[in-house]
Amino acid sequence: MGLPNPGAEEFVDEIKIAKEGKAPVIASIFGSSLEEFAIVARIVEAGGANAIELNLSCPHVGKVGLQLGQDPALVRDVVRRVKSAVEIPVIAKLSSNVSNIVDVASSAERGGANAVTAINTIRAMAIDVHVKKPILANVIGGLSGPAIKPVAMRCVYEIYESVKIPIIAAGGVKDWEDAVEYFLAGASAVQIGTAIKTYGLEVFSLVTSGIDGYMKANGYKEVLEIVGKAHGS
Ligand SMILES: Cc1cc2nc3c(=O)[nH]c(=O)nc-3n(C[C@H](O)[C@H](O)[C@H](O)COP(=O)(O)O)c2cc1C
Repeated sequence: MGLPNPGAEEFVDEIKIAKEGKAPVIASIFGSSLEEFAIVARIVEAGGANAIELNLSCPHVGKVGLQLGQDPALVRDVVRRVKSAVEIPVIAKLSSNVSNIVDVASSAERGGANAVTAINTIRAMAIDVHVKKPILANVIGGLSGPAIKPVAMRCVYEIYESVKIPIIAAGGVKDWEDAVEYFLAGASAVQIGTAIKTYGLEVFSLVTSGIDGYMKANGYKEVLEIVGKAHGS
């Protein structure tokens, strides 16, 4: 889990290391209040982050048990608060554990988000048949990887129909076909998480070279040409 981390000040050292790779660095942050979101955002901006992604899938104080990302008005307020605190682009990462992800995406857009990321992990659980108890001490955890790709695909597709800001897809990307499928659904970029554990860091170059091959074979120059192409007739 990324949330139980040593804190934003410590993390600034990691941003510096990441920046040595010369690629843009997007810092993922969360806070337990609007003010804390703003404070953490300023710390990672000063630390060199090129953009900020707001993790909105954490429990929020006041409404115990509810995730912040399930409350469209609060999502809009968090985005607005962070946008007023920093100059760099702000991306709202959405949870699919909601009845209508489009409402939340639209709220993030209204708050001034420069992009949305869809999706975070899906609430799930497993039971050990021998111990006859839930496998996780927390009982419920977050499901990631290929199993959630069809759900994330549906979210990206639906959001694309309703918001104008770019969408970053996350959920089960393991090869270039997955990435291209997300582009066609409406994503302008993809994230890779779980596949790093399955395939190692090589997965990044395999996915990007596969996308290059697909683009060349189909006569496209840039990914934007295929973003959202699965929509319409
Ligand atoms: C071990 C693990 C830790 C994660 N920690 C975070 C986190 O701290 N913040 C966050 O926004 N998402 C977190 N995620 C969610 C991923 O960023 C991503 O949204 C999700 O796993 C779907 O992508 P994937 O199938 O490529 O892993 C985590 C996922 C995993 C598997």
